[in-house]
Amino acid sequence: MSQSIPHGGKLINRINPDYDYSSIHLEIQLDSIALSDLKLIANGGYSPLVGFMGEDDYLQVVQNMRLANGDVWSIPITLPVSEEQAKQLKAGEEVKLVKEGTVYGVLQIKELFAPDKQVEAEKVYRTTDLNHPGVKKLMERGPVYVAGPIIYVEQTTKGVFPTFELDPIETRQVFEERGWRSVVGFQTRNPVHRAHEYIQKAALETVDGLFLNPLVGETKADDIPADLRMKSYQVLLENYYPKDRVHLSVFPAAMRYAGPREAIFHALVRKNYGCTHFIVGRDHAGVGNYYGTYDAQKIFEEFTIDELGITPLYFENSFFCTKCEGMASNKTCPHDGSHHVSLSGTKVRQMLSEGIVPPREFSRPEVVKVLIEGLKSAAHPALK
Ligand code: ADX
Repeated sequence: MSQSIPHGGKLINRINPDYDYSSIHLEIQLDSIALSDLKLIANGGYSPLVGFMGEDDYLQVVQNMRLANGDVWSIPITLPVSEEQAKQLKAGEEVKLVKEGTVYGVLQIKELFAPDKQVEAEKVYRTTDLNHPGVKKLMERGPVYVAGPIIYVEQTTKGVFPTFELDPIETRQVFEERGWRSVVGFQTRNPVHRAHEYIQKAALETVDGLFLNPLVGETKADDIPADLRMKSYQVLLENYYPKDRVHLSVFPAAMRYAGPREAIFHALVRKNYGCTHFIVGRDHAGVGNYYGTYDAQKIFEEFTIDELGITPLYFENSFFCTKCEGMASNKTCPHDGSHHVSLSGTKVRQMLSEGIVPPREFSRPEVVKVLIEGLKSAAHPALK
C-alpha cells in the first residue's frame, strides 16, 4: 500500500488568497478554536468537510458519528455565534471571518441553527459536567451555529511554528519523498515521555515512518505550553530517534478532551495528513476520570477498517519496570506495581514546577532539562 486515500476520497483545498471579499461588510469574530478549524477545513485536514457543518451533518455526527452522506465523522465542527450576531446574518449572504483585525476567511452562509448543547455534550463528551474542559468550552461558546462552505483568504495557513506546520498536501509529499509506504501517526498534547517513546518505537518496528504530530491549538491552561513542548520534541528527536524515520510537524487543532470520540477524529485527520496507521494508547484524549482507560480503543470496534481508511494500533498502559530493566506493559511484564515507574501528569507537572527532576526511567534527562528551564522562565499556570 502507498499512502492513505483522504477521507471521502479527495483532499479538500479551500485556500484562495485572491478571493475578492472587498464588497463583504458583515464580519464574524473568530475565537482561536474557530480559526484553527477554519484552517484545517481549508487545508484538507478535515476532508471531506468544505465548511462549518449544517444541521443535517451536525445531527448525524452527534447521534451516529457519521456525516449525512454516511462517512464516519465523530466531532461536530461548527461555528458558534451570539444571538445578537445571528440576527444580522442570513442564508445566501457572505460573511468575513476575522480574528484580531485580520480577515482569514469568507463563509457562504447556508443556514443558521440552534443546537441542543446538552445533547451534544452527552453524546460527544459522555458528560454534561461543566468541570470537563471540553464541555465547559462548548457551553461558553455562542448558542447559534452558522453553517456553510468557507474559503481561506489569508496568504498563509502557517501559524506560530511555520517551519513545523505542514499542510496535509505537504506532509504527503514528505512521506512520498522519503519513500515511506506506511506511516504511523502519533497525537500528543504532552511532552514525549518514555512511555510515549516506547509505544512510538514499538509501532515504528512494523511501519516505515513515524509522524510525530503534536497538537498545538488551544489546550487547557495547565497543559505544558506548545512552544516549550516543541523544544522538548526537538531535543528528544535529536538524541534518540533516527532522522530518516521520523517527521515532526504540528497539528494546529484545539484539544477537545472528548476521549473516545476524539480518538476517531484524530485518526481520520491523520489519515488526511497521509498516515496509514494511528497510535491509540491508554486514555487517548482523555481528562480526569471521565473515560475508561481503553474506551478510546473500544470505540474503533463500531467501524470497519475500510470505512475508517486508517488502521489503529492499540497500546496497553506502558511503564518502566525495574525488574525487567526496561519499558513494558502488563502484557509483557509479570512483576507487580511496586516495580513499575509511572507518574500521573499532575504529579510530573508538580515535580517540574518544584525543579525536581523526574526519574530518568520516566523521562529523558534532555527533555526534563528543557521543561524545567522553560517553565521557570515562563511562570506558566502549569507551575501552580
Ligand atoms: S492526548 O490527549 O494527546 O491523547 P498524551 O499526549 O498523553 O495525551 O498521549 C498521547 C498518546 O499516547 C495517546 O494515544 C495516549 O493514549 C498514549 N499514551 C500516553 N501515555 C501512555 C502510557 N503510559 N501508556 C500507553 N499509552 C500512553
